[in-house]
Amino acid sequence: MSRIVYLNGEYLPEAEAKVSIFDRGFLMADGVYEVTSVLDGKLVDFDGHAKRLQRSLGELDMASPVTMDELLEIHRELLRRNDVVEGMVYLQITRGAPADRDFVFPNPEETPSTIVLFTQNKPGLADNPAAKRGIKVISIDDLRWHRRDIKTVQLLYPSMGKMMAKAAGCDDAWLVEDGHVTEGTSNNAYIVKGGRIITRDLSTDILHGITRAAVLRFAREAQMEVEERPFTIEEAQQADEAFITSASTFVMPVVEIDGATIGAGTPGPVATRLREIYLEESRKAAI
Ligand code: PDD
Repeated sequence: MSRIVYLNGEYLPEAEAKVSIFDRGFLMADGVYEVTSVLDGKLVDFDGHAKRLQRSLGELDMASPVTMDELLEIHRELLRRNDVVEGMVYLQITRGAPADRDFVFPNPEETPSTIVLFTQNKPGLADNPAAKRGIKVISIDDLRWHRRDIKTVQLLYPSMGKMMAKAAGCDDAWLVEDGHVTEGTSNNAYIVKGGRIITRDLSTDILHGITRAAVLRFAREAQMEVEERPFTIEEAQQADEAFITSASTFVMPVVEIDGATIGAGTPGPVATRLREIYLEESRKAAI
């Protein structure tokens, strides 16, 4: 079934939504994005995603073509038109399509940004069987640019990382810089040792995950100890548990890192409990 997508003010069948070959998203990866999950037909943490989007745009001197209220309405309209109950909404804003290719940013008065949204219908997202088994990760060098706090569409290296993981018979890769884990290719990384949840502190080294913020808040509310600091792969391999978080995986246990089994090799109690709390609270607060 063909989706209805949103492009620059119009709701269109996906085959009719066309963007110029001069669009800077296409030529320069000059664009930002957000992925918001959908549970029970409602948006999870829309405000967090809208705020991070505004920050990403601001850091790149890019204008938003819509207000955040309009953005919420577009998200909701797309969910209605595509009957999405569980899944995701993808949003991308690029610096638009000037008349030709040029490294210099175009004048925003003459070149409006391009905005695209589409839905991804994923029944069973919350009931993902991978969460019951846990996933396996490999470690690779973090060769991305150094402004990972901006959610840009330049995803070639994360994509290569997923391919390296696949070639190694694993599910994903954790990125390592200066001997410490930064994050996963498309998620934040955590370990649990002696009941303490350890995850890298916020800086330009990692994306400030919206799921991360919620999960750490729920963990603290449940009297779990949280330590925000970098950790090594060796420390992770000796941890009791490991897990990742993102809008598309929620809380996902990790049971193997570079061939070493974590804990009992099955999802641990902390990750399992955090996933339950996250899903329960997110369903309640979804709009
Ligand atoms: N990825 N770190 C990176 C590098 C990411 O790409 C993501 C999200 C996260 C987690 O952020 P959040 O909790 O706000 O989803 C961390 C999205 C889901 C994606 O690219 O599909």
